[in-house]
Amino acid sequence: RAKIMSYNSVDDAVQLLKRSRNIVVLTGAGISTSLGIPDFRSKETGLYSQLEKLGLGINDPQEVFNIDVFRDDPTIFYTVAKDILPATKKFSPTHAFIAMLQNQGKLLTNYSQNIDNIEANAGILPEKLVQCHGSFATASCQRCGHKVRGDTIFEDIKAGKIPRCGRCITALKSKGIGPLKRKRSNNSASKRSRRNFEDFDDDDDDDGVYNIPQAGVMKPDITFFGEPLPDEFSKRLVKHDRNLVDLVIVIGTSLKVAPVSEVVPFLPSHIPQIYISRTPVSHINFDIDLLGDCDVVVAELCRRAGWDLDHPMVPPN
Ligand code: OAD
Ligand code: ZN
Repeated sequence: RAKIMSYNSVDDAVQLLKRSRNIVVLTGAGISTSLGIPDFRSKETGLYSQLEKLGLGINDPQEVFNIDVFRDDPTIFYTVAKDILPATKKFSPTHAFIAMLQNQGKLLTNYSQNIDNIEANAGILPEKLVQCHGSFATASCQRCGHKVRGDTIFEDIKAGKIPRCGRCITALKSKGIGPLKRKRSNNSASKRSRRNFEDFDDDDDDDGVYNIPQAGVMKPDITFFGEPLPDEFSKRLVKHDRNLVDLVIVIGTSLKVAPVSEVVPFLPSHIPQIYISRTPVSHINFDIDLLGDCDVVVAELCRRAGWDLDHPMVPPN
């Protein structure tokens, strides 16, 4: 990448922050680890190394989020899902930093790969946020496409059940497959439907609700490997942000997953780029690398800029 200007110091980063008006902030799991939410790829603490220890019968822990694996056997994902549901109203100093940029009128877009929904807790506005890998806000039936509010399946997820589609179940019941027909009198039609029902309700509770295999499995609308990203991602990046961006800040992501990893090379090469993370990356050459705990780095940037980062976790100066 041909660099027109040369930036390298922390103070250069502060000057860039001060003068920029259209900042793209690209975030990953590293901005939520201070809240006790594991990232994916950190050795020992990351979700993938935790999953390896569980022995889920898969070769690669990333397969938990693989759409073909899910279609084949949703129990693998649902074994893990209860532990990754959005569960906190807190937010980190780094989320507060992004919200502060927004409130100063400097945030063009926060592209987040995170599915923890913590951006909202910090007050980052939906119109400033692209959840590149979707979220738990909605869930869809894998058979008929029926979409519901995400939290309607949380109870099943927490109980270790595979959530099934209400619309599919209703359709099956009307065809005589399901619990409604069971209590009917003993004519031949009801015998047939009872047989159907018993074939399909093959779990222990015999309620015919959660385990009717014909009813589609519900999946939270988080983007699995093998699924396309939400349309908004490339639409906004290509049609809107690419022409407006004046600074790129990447925080807490290993940039290992495409197409989000391609955002930085896609943006005009003369736009300055800052990388904030514990672990350096070698496949993208940033103008400024600020290596360390992102909450500490953003607090120091604010201190030098003379900005008040209002967050209980930031130690007072
Ligand atoms: P990763 O776990 O790959 O990367 C997180 C990065 O943040 C690592 O480089 C860590 O060193 C760094 N990090 C962790 N805690 C930090 C802290 N407190 N301060 C600074 N840096 C810190 O997570 P992502 O890059 O977000 O996708 O992963 C990308 C995608 O891979 C996820 O969205 C998920 C996953 O598979 C899907 O599931 C589709
Ligand atoms: Zn359905």
